[in-house]
Amino acid sequence: MVQIHTFSSKKSDQTWSLFFFFAVILRDMNILSIETSCDETAVSIVKADGQFPDASYEVLGDALHSQVDLHAEYGGVFPMLAKREHAKKLIPMLTKALTEADLLHEEESVLTQAQVEMLHELLIHESESGMIEELITFFQTYEKPDVELIAVTSGPGLEPALWVGVNFAKALSEVWNIHVVPVNHMEGHVLATIFDVEEDNKLAQVSFPAVSLLISGGHTELLRMDDWKTYDKIGQTKDDAIGEAFDKVARMMGLPYPGGPEISRLAKLARAANLPPFAELPRPMLHSKDLDFSFSGLKTAVRYAIDGKELGETDMEALARDFEDAATEVLIKKTKDALDESGAQTLIIGGGVSANQHIRNCFHSELLESHPDVEIYFPNPGLSTDNSVMIALSGHARTDRAANPAAAKLIKADGNRNIADQ
Ligand code: KG4
Ligand code: ZN
Repeated sequence: MVQIHTFSSKKSDQTWSLFFFFAVILRDMNILSIETSCDETAVSIVKADGQFPDASYEVLGDALHSQVDLHAEYGGVFPMLAKREHAKKLIPMLTKALTEADLLHEEESVLTQAQVEMLHELLIHESESGMIEELITFFQTYEKPDVELIAVTSGPGLEPALWVGVNFAKALSEVWNIHVVPVNHMEGHVLATIFDVEEDNKLAQVSFPAVSLLISGGHTELLRMDDWKTYDKIGQTKDDAIGEAFDKVARMMGLPYPGGPEISRLAKLARAANLPPFAELPRPMLHSKDLDFSFSGLKTAVRYAIDGKELGETDMEALARDFEDAATEVLIKKTKDALDESGAQTLIIGGGVSANQHIRNCFHSELLESHPDVEIYFPNPGLSTDNSVMIALSGHARTDRAANPAAAKLIKADGNRNIADQ
């Protein structure tokens, strides 16, 4: 027998708020998290058991669609293309994550006229993608899943891409009557790094103050953390982010996007063959008195080094190694300075570039010599680059900021959201 269910937000508002309150008190909740800040469309279901930062987390469902192939021909992420692709992939990712979590159950449901109008209004910029119709069908087919909180990246990132995720979160919140918490993507990277270090599904028990080095496609920043959820920006790039430099240098060398893994692969070959240097590259701002970085000069130096030359295979490998060495040296020097200035005994390195094996090896070996008492954390494989598990972790940390569906309507995407302004 088909059971018909009507989604009604008004009637259950109070009961539901009470339920949310108890879920928070009991500290056991399923979090649906959404990440669309750049070129990964990701949705996860994470069960949080306990109170942040001592909770344990079980990843019940995790779905990620990478758009790299789409952007590869442009040599970088094209924001409007990323936005369209997120709109196409969010519902399939949601379906996959909920199915994996065994939380997707068919039950014919009826949306009210007001709800349908609300969806059209909320997702008006996605109308071309067919997302609205697809979402209406989704709501009509499945019952509300056992989820207590929605966490969505609201910044920093590419604003058109962020808006798709934020509006999608609002739509789910309205129809299912679930609170929404807007998450800072960079805090997600910090928490991803210290998640499941002991394979215990928990956050590591770090000691403060800590220094966090965030290295990604859009950011290169040093943060001082005096406690959980507090960030003081003590250094940052003055121009290109390190990941951007990896990507741009790779592009100049005719390598595909994203450039980081490609450069890293070639550099490894050069080291194994002990190739002589191809170019003398600068270490920008190595001796500046502050904790800031600059990578645009390094990128330009690579351009001059290859200008008018036909690069052979070993030239490419040697150049990749020269670039990786220069970038790594600056990162390590500035991070050591930050540790000295802050007296921190904990170093948390996160963001896509933290996947780089050479950078990992150098940090471990060099700090073992100079700062043997510092505990260094790198993310587990799979959690270095963008993902939605990290958004669930940050969402859980920020449960106190969760907005009910009416208040969630006011959540805005902010491409420049600063982790220090939390
Ligand atoms: O954190 P992320 O996935 O997205 C942003 O928030 O930006 O970082 C993406 C960046 C890209 O620039 C990519 O080239 C770089 O991380 N990346 C790497 C490696 N894997 C990814 N860079 C160097 N070595 C790698 N193995
Ligand atoms: Zn990122």
